[in-house]
Amino acid sequence: MNWIMKSQPNLKILITERQIKNKIKQLAKEISRDYKGKILLLIAVLKGSFMFLADLIRELSVDIEIEFIELSSYGNSTESSGEVSVIKWLTKEIENRDILLIEDIVDTGLTVSTLLNKIKSHKPSSVKVCSLTSKPARRETDVPIDYLGFEVPNKFIVGYGIDYNEIYRNLPEIYYLENE
Ligand code: PRP
Repeated sequence: MNWIMKSQPNLKILITERQIKNKIKQLAKEISRDYKGKILLLIAVLKGSFMFLADLIRELSVDIEIEFIELSSYGNSTESSGEVSVIKWLTKEIENRDILLIEDIVDTGLTVSTLLNKIKSHKPSSVKVCSLTSKPARRETDVPIDYLGFEVPNKFIVGYGIDYNEIYRNLPEIYYLENE
């Protein structure tokens, strides 16, 4: 049992480090195959996706560029506010680019659907979505997830980039919070 499970008994392991590593290898293989010969522009949604992005790109065998955007839908609570606000937007043109959005979690789907609409209005060649996790029980709007790591149950999850009041992002595994 590791330090976080000892010190925070309400955190229960959901996805191990090994499972995440294996899944990322598999996703990277598919992405590398699908974008062979192209220069892929990865757009990572901060903050939650930073760890997934860092591990995913080291497994890719295609040329990539990276852009970061930051949006916020939650504030400091465990429930989505239903509104998506832009904190940081793109710094370069994306017209005629092949784009892959990188997310840590698709919950209600509002963030990804808002982003897809905004990005499509800049006329990229293609845009797809890659998310480490998806919580289908919470979906409010249908969104395509072209590359998905794990479906997760309707529990509040933390770790591997995902926070609770900004903490737990550094955990190498994914946990759920009991009694939330
Ligand atoms: C989380 C997550 C997604 C979004 C998903 O971000 O990283 O971007 O919520 O929720 P949705 O499908 O209901 O829109 P959050 O706003 O918590 O910011 P963070 O990544 O900085 O923690």
